Amino acid sequence: MRKGVGLQITIREYIPADAEKIFALRKDPRLRGMQYAPSILESPESQNALFQSGPDIPRNGWKCSCILVDGNFAGHISQGYSTSCVGDTTVLLGWNIVPELWGRKIMVRALELLISARFESQPRLVFIACCFASNNRCLRVIEKLGFRVDRLTAMERLSHFMMTWGRERVVKHRLDFDLWQNRSTKVAEIG
Ligand SMILES: CC(C)(COP(=O)(O)OP(=O)(O)OC[C@H]1O[C@@H](n2cnc3c(N)ncnc32)[C@H](O)[C@@H]1OP(=O)(O)O)[C@@H](O)C(=O)NCCC(=O)NCCS
Repeated sequence: MRKGVGLQITIREYIPADAEKIFALRKDPRLRGMQYAPSILESPESQNALFQSGPDIPRNGWKCSCILVDGNFAGHISQGYSTSCVGDTTVLLGWNIVPELWGRKIMVRALELLISARFESQPRLVFIACCFASNNRCLRVIEKLGFRVDRLTAMERLSHFMMTWGRERVVKHRLDFDLWQNRSTKVAEIG
């Protein structure tokens, strides 16, 4: 648990009862234009099926963690294999916070809890975060955690192009243990 700006921030493993809340958040119109629009085939049931697998098993899969603020659902973080590195220790991160709580530095704190726990058990992990170049809020989160810009592979470039029909430029960042240890801003210092 982390206390910050008067909020108690915790993360816990996803449970099936979270599916409806995550689905509603992903469908929230206030998120449109900030990330890929959810597929019309997406439903709480399809999400639940997706989150049954995890990044620690050797197949394409996603693992989800829920963010709680003062014990209430506040968002989620997903971890999946990078499409460029299936099968190794590269974890692709995705995240959302409920709009009512944007701007309160919750995501950086939640990610710090998750990333520090994962590096503690697996220091050779590499985290990847991709977002639209226009998503300044998300870029700030990435920057605060010490990520560095990385090159998109040709496959990733193609995949992102097809997901947005070329309307959005996507930027990729990576974080390894050295970058994590040497990041300039530790969360405790974020006001
Ligand atoms: C992106 C997101 C996860 C950031 O989480 P957060 O807890 O709100 O992050 P922060 O409070 O640290 O704010 C990040 C930056 O947003 C900007 N920001 C904050 N409030 C803002 C406001 N009212 N208007 C515009 N920008 C604002 C600031 O630049 C801030 O960085 P700073 O504190 O260093 O100045 C969250 O806003 C979100 O879920 N957005 C919608 C979905 C999304 O973009 N998901 C990620 C897809 S890759």
